[in-house]
Amino acid sequence: MMHLQLRHELDLETYLEPSVIALSDGSVHAFNRAASQLLHPTNSISSLLDLCAGGAETLQTYLRACSGSRQPLIERVSFDGPDGAVDYRCFGNVLVPRRRNRPATLLLRLFPVLDTRFSAAAERIRRLTAERQQRVAVQQFDELRSDRLRLVEQYCFVAEALRVVEARTHELQDEINHIRCDERERIARDLHDHAGQEMALVLAELRALQDGAKGSAKKRLDEIAEHVAGIGRKIHHAVVNGRPRIIEELGFYRAIESMVASVAADGRLGFSFKKKGSEPDPLPIDVENALYRVAQEALTNVLKHALGARRVDVILEFTDRSVSLTIADDGIGFSAEATEPEGSDAGIGLRGMRQRLADIGGTLAISPRFGKGTIVTATAPLACGLHGSAPS
Ligand SMILES: Nc1ncnc2c1ncn2[C@@H]1O[C@H](COP(=O)(O)OP(=O)(O)O)[C@@H](O)[C@H]1O
Ligand SMILES: [Mg+2]
Repeated sequence: MMHLQLRHELDLETYLEPSVIALSDGSVHAFNRAASQLLHPTNSISSLLDLCAGGAETLQTYLRACSGSRQPLIERVSFDGPDGAVDYRCFGNVLVPRRRNRPATLLLRLFPVLDTRFSAAAERIRRLTAERQQRVAVQQFDELRSDRLRLVEQYCFVAEALRVVEARTHELQDEINHIRCDERERIARDLHDHAGQEMALVLAELRALQDGAKGSAKKRLDEIAEHVAGIGRKIHHAVVNGRPRIIEELGFYRAIESMVASVAADGRLGFSFKKKGSEPDPLPIDVENALYRVAQEALTNVLKHALGARRVDVILEFTDRSVSLTIADDGIGFSAEATEPEGSDAGIGLRGMRQRLADIGGTLAISPRFGKGTIVTATAPLACGLHGSAPS
C-alpha cells in the first residue's frame, strides 16, 4: 500500500500528526508517515476496524457520522500500535461524499491523547533532572563541608594566636607589676638610706644645739627641729607606703604567717609555719620587703606549678648575722636548668627573687627535686648599721 493514493489531491505529508484517508466502512486508502509509524510500521493495514483496540462498533458509528460532516467531528478512539494500544483524539470529516454504492471518503487526523514517546522522554528528563539536582546538592554539600573545615581550621588558628597573645600579655603585665614594685621599693630604700639617714643626723645635731641655746635662738631652733622632724616623718611615710601595707598593719612575722594561711585556705594543701631563733627588733625594712616578696612569689609558684603538692612548709630562721626564709613543697618539682640565673627558662618570678636578694646582699637557693618537690631558701644578712629602720 502507498503512503498516498493520488486519486485525492490532498498531500497527507503536509500534516504533521498521524493522518489517514479511509472510507466510511473503515478500509484504509492512504496514510502519512507519522500514521504508519504509530499504527503499523509494516504497512500492512487495510482496515481501521482491524486496528481498533475494542469498541469497533463505536468506531463504525463515528465513521458514519464523519461521512456527513464537512466540519471535523472529534471522537476519542483507541488503536493498536507496535507499543500497544494508544488513545487518540480523532478529527474526522468527509472528503468525497457517499455516491451510490461507494462509501464516503474521509480524512481522519489523529492526535495522541498521551504519546508514550513523550511520556518516556518526560520521565527520562525528570530522572536526569533529579540526578542533576542530586549531583549539584552533593557538590554543594562537599563545598560547604570543605568551607566549614577551612573555617574551623582558621578558627583554631585564631584561637591559638589569641591564646599566645593573651599569655604574653599576662607575662608582660606580671613583668610590669614586678618592675613597678621593684621601682617603688628602690625609691623607698633610697629615701630611707640617704635622705632619711641624713635627716636623722641633722636632727641629732639640732638637738645638740638646742641643749645649749636660750631665748629666741632656742625658740627658733625648736621650730627648725620640729620642721626637720616633720620632713623625716614624711620620708618615713613614703618608705612605709612603698612596701606591703600588711607588714605595717600586722608586723613582718604575722604578715608572712597570714600569707601562708591564705595560700592553704582552700584546704587542698596542708601547711606549717615555724620560726626559729629570735627576731631582731626592728628588722630592716628592705629585708622585710624582700623576704615578703620572695614568700609571695614562691607560694604563688607552689599554687601555679607544684602539681600534686599536698603540703607546704615555711620556716623563718634568725641567727645573729642573717635571716632566712625557706618555702618547701612536695609537688612535682622541676628541672634544675630552669633555676640557673642566666637560664633561658628562668621566669621573671625566679629572676625577680634573685634580684631582690642580690639588692640587699643576700642569696636565693632553689633546690628543685625532680618529682619530689621544690625548696626555695632566701637568706639576707643582718649586718648592723647597713639596714637601720626608717628615721622617726
Ligand atoms: N614550686 C614549684 N614547683 C614546680 N615548678 C616550679 C616551682 N616554682 C617554679 N617552678 C618552675 O619554674 C618556672 C619559672 O618560675 P617563675 O620564674 O616564677 O615563672 P612563672 O611563675 O611566671 O612561670 C615555672 O614556670 C615552673 O616551671
Ligand atoms: Mg612565678
